This record gives sequence, C-alpha cells and structure tokens, in this order.
Amino acid sequence: MAKVVVDGKTVVVPDTANALEACRAAGVDVPHFCYHPGLSVVGQCRMCMVEIEGMPKVQASCTVPIRDGMVIQASSERARAARNATMEFLLVNHPLDCPICDQAGECKLQDNAVAGGLPVSRTSEPRRQYPGYDRTDIGPHVIADMTRCIQCTRCIRFCAEVAGTGELTFIERGGHTIVWTHEGHQLDNEWSGCAADVCPVGALTVKEFRFRKRVWWLAKARSVCDGCEIGCNVSIEHRDRVVHRYLPRVNPHVNDFWMCDYGRFRAEGLNRQDWLRPVVRAGGEARETNWGEAATAVQLAIDEARGADPASVLVLGSANASTEESWLLAELFSRTLGLPNVEFDVDAGPLRRIPNPKAAGAEGRFLTGTLAAPNARGTEAAGIRRVGADSALARLLSGSWAPEVLYVTDAAFSARCDDPEFVAALRKAKKLVVNARGKNALSEAADVVLPVGSLATKEGTFVNVQGRIQRFEAAFLPPPIVKSDLEVLLHLGRRWGAFDTRWTARDVFERMRDRVAGYGGARWDAPAIAGYPCSLSPAAAYDALAAGREADDPDATHVLAAPAGGRP
Ligand code: SF4
Ligand code: SF4
Ligand code: FES
Repeated sequence: MAKVVVDGKTVVVPDTANALEACRAAGVDVPHFCYHPGLSVVGQCRMCMVEIEGMPKVQASCTVPIRDGMVIQASSERARAARNATMEFLLVNHPLDCPICDQAGECKLQDNAVAGGLPVSRTSEPRRQYPGYDRTDIGPHVIADMTRCIQCTRCIRFCAEVAGTGELTFIERGGHTIVWTHEGHQLDNEWSGCAADVCPVGALTVKEFRFRKRVWWLAKARSVCDGCEIGCNVSIEHRDRVVHRYLPRVNPHVNDFWMCDYGRFRAEGLNRQDWLRPVVRAGGEARETNWGEAATAVQLAIDEARGADPASVLVLGSANASTEESWLLAELFSRTLGLPNVEFDVDAGPLRRIPNPKAAGAEGRFLTGTLAAPNARGTEAAGIRRVGADSALARLLSGSWAPEVLYVTDAAFSARCDDPEFVAALRKAKKLVVNARGKNALSEAADVVLPVGSLATKEGTFVNVQGRIQRFEAAFLPPPIVKSDLEVLLHLGRRWGAFDTRWTARDVFERMRDRVAGYGGARWDAPAIAGYPCSLSPAAAYDALAAGREADDPDATHVLAAPAGGRP
C-alpha cells in the first residue's frame, strides 16, 4: 500500500493503483474517457490531466503509477486548463446532437462538458462528417455513428482484451480516423452489447434499446440474470411497469462489468404476461375464475389424491424459483403434507461464458455455466430433489406410471414445455395444475392455471454456480390479480394451515436460513448478498464499486459448499 496526497487529502491505495485511481479514492472525480478498470491503460484521450509534484508538465493521471508519498494537484489552475483544452479539442468536431442522441443522459462527454467545459464554443466551422459511417449497423446488436466517436479505444480494447475476438480497429489516419470492423467482419461476439456499454459517448449504441426511452426516465432495480447458473448481476431498467433493458451491474466476484448478449436480451421477455387470471377447465371448457375457486380446486385435488396414496401426487419445483420459494414448496408439500414426490428438473443449456479471470480461478479466464436456470443449487439446498433415473418424473415420462395430480410450479421450467410429446406425457396425470406467465403448450393443456408474474415482480435469493447467495429485488408489482410465485405458495399453504399470507420474501428468508445448508447466519441486507448498487451510466459502471465497497467484505460473503457428489 502507498500513501498519496490528493488536493491536500491523504489516502492509502494499493501499490498497483495509478494516479487517477488515487484521485478517485480521495473522492476527487478527475474527468476521463479512455480509462476503464476492466481494460488496459492507454492514455489515449488526455482528459485526465493533473499536476504531480516533481514532474514539470501536467500528466495524464491514468498513465502514472503511484509511489509512496506522491503529491497530486487535481484541481489546480494548470490541471483544469489542460483538461479544458482537451475538452475543447474533442468538441471541435463533435456534432453536439445530444437532443437526438440516445446516449444523452449517460454520456461522459456531456457530463464532463456540463461539469467543467467552456460555456461557449470558439469555432464556427462545420463539423466533420463521415458519410457511410454514421447510424450504421456494425453487428447484430450494435449501431455505430462515427461522427460522435472520440477515439478513446475502449471498444477496441474490449473486443481485443475481454472478448478476445478483436473485431474492431482504427481505420484511416489523423483527423479522418474512425473505429470500424475489420474488412469482412461484424461486431458479433457473445458479449457485443458490452462494447456499446463501455463507449463513453453515443458512437456505439445498442440497437434493441435505441430510442425506446430517454434514460433519465428509467428506474433501476438490482436483479440477477436468470438466463443461466452464472447469475450475472444486472440492473432492470424500467418505467411504468415496462422493462426497457438490462444493464450489467458490476460484481468483481461474478460477472465483473459484463454480461452476455443472450442474457441481456432476455429483458424484453419480462414484459410478456399472457395469463392474467386463474383459469379452471371443466368438461374440456377453460373458464377464467378467481383465486379462491382456483385454489380450492387445487386443494381438493391434492387432498383427495393424497388421502388415497400420498405417492400419487407429483409436485415439480423449478430451478427458476428463488430459494425462498423452493423452501416453501418443500415445507408445504414434503414436510407438511408428507408427499414423497417433490422434485425439480433443469435443462442443460448451451455453455454460457463470462470473461472474468478473477472468478474463473483455475478454470481459465471465463466463468462458465452449463445449466439454463439460475438456482439449481438453491433449489437443492432448500430440500427439493433433482430428478434422476428413478424419479417420479422419469417414470411418468417413460410411461410406466402416472400420477393422480401433477402440480408444475413453473410452466417454463424446461424448453420441452412447448414440445407436444413432452406435454402429452405430462398430461397423463389425471389433474394437471400449473403456475404460468406466458402461454405455452403445457399451460394451455392444464386443468388449472395459476397466473404468476415475472422475475421483475418478485424478490428473493438465488445461489449461483459458484455457490454465492445473490439477492434480487422486485422492480414493480405484478399486474392486478396476478401473484408472485411466493404469494401463490403462501396462499396455498394457508389452506393447510402452514403459512401466513402476510409473509414477505425476507420473512421466509429469515425463517429458512438456519435450516438451509449454506444460508446459516446469512443476512438479507448483507452487502455481499445484496450486491453492488446499479450505476447511473453503463460507461461508468465501475463507479458503483466505490458506492458499494462494503459488498467486498469477505466476512459477509456467503458461499455454499459444493454438494457431495458434485454440482447439482
Ligand atoms: S466508438 Fe466509442 S468506445 Fe469506441 S473509440 Fe469511439 S468513443 Fe471510444
Ligand atoms: S452468462 Fe448467464 S447469467 Fe450471465 S448474462 Fe449470460 S445468461 Fe445471464
Ligand atoms: S483517461 Fe487518462 S488519458 Fe484517457
């Protein structure tokens, strides 16, 4: 560690820090563009100029390694004058089209101009134009507009150093320099949206979000991507109960600053809500009803079947459920009603990868996930068995057995739920009950449909592939009548005298934590479980690291041990 003095304030920073990081540690925000803690240092933009005692000229602070006793003047007249000169130079050719630029509101150039730029322009010449290189697709998800580029090279370094795909490069020279894809290539890698995230200006924007909503209208909620078992931390960005985008939420222990495109564009799916009221089917006719009648139908069916034989009921949990929901499921159906067949199944999905050598450890530079759901480990820890060769689901699918009642608590627990053959096999149950949000073959074949909200409408915890407990919060309430999965379980549980419908996810967490392996002593609001705050701007997502420093407290980190016999 080294002691550094910034504008008269002494801070202690790691020996590996640079002068810009020392300034940030001292709470002095030195404007910058090309610096990003997830990328190499190149000193490209010359925006971060400061004075350093003993050095005759102003220095680009991101390029200067600190040394013990260094004295930095970040706010001196000379430092400000140097930064103003850089800003003026960058703005000479900037189109200043903020009113029609989708980056406005989260643009570093705009922020730095407003915070410290000159109030008037000293140039009247027309701005540089790049016909053919403006508002142009450069990949499936990213649109480039080179009139706005400030040549910081963040996007080039992201593709070369993080993605390892290197699609982007500089072409032309001097004042004509632009960033573009190599001849014959597109910006098309597993994390291409992150190249737009790191762009500090509106030169690269994400096609799917472009012009959907001004960013200052968006509210943000801390969540966790449910696309696979890695559990990348995300910010759900929403307005008026509509989700407009996911942004990666920084977490150095999991996804660092990144998320994959597959996960990023799942955000749109959160807006789908086909089932809006409970439905019961009688005599082949489906009829909308109220929760009371639907819950009574479920209770009567289960009571009648378990009265004859508890093994004639099959309850399927889901690795998409929170650990709290899975614990309620096990508590109600296994421990209270004594049903022996309470299981869950999870798809082995395509391999997902997040570049983060710190988290990947010995496995290489990627953290990987092979299961297509976020909480297989939490579901198992909560007491639900994963299906195996001798499981009730396996017997049902093989045609050797059929339950009286099959309760599927997540109509999207597997991609097979849209496969008519799979659904026909499940439909062999005399009574089929499902919790569902989107219509699919399984939910349309059910006798009772209980409508549930999306991930954006619920809260709880997931346990990711590393065994980390990660909390997600609700962005907004489900539509009227629709309930969260937790509410459905509480509602059903009350009918058997097991639960109180006033319990929140936090109440359930506190009830279950000393009974679920790995959750002992965990705190709902522990920073390591809640994660880092959402950032104001994707280009400066690392700002949240300072705001959530306590999330790094190793004593507050809960990590589940790997289950005996390997990963679930
Ligand atoms: S496109 Fe954006 S990230 Fe890439 S060099 Fe230009 S300003 Fe920087
Ligand atoms: S790697 Fe998995 S958890 Fe991360 S963004 Fe992609 S799908 Fe989501
Ligand atoms: S941030 Fe230091 S030179 Fe660009």
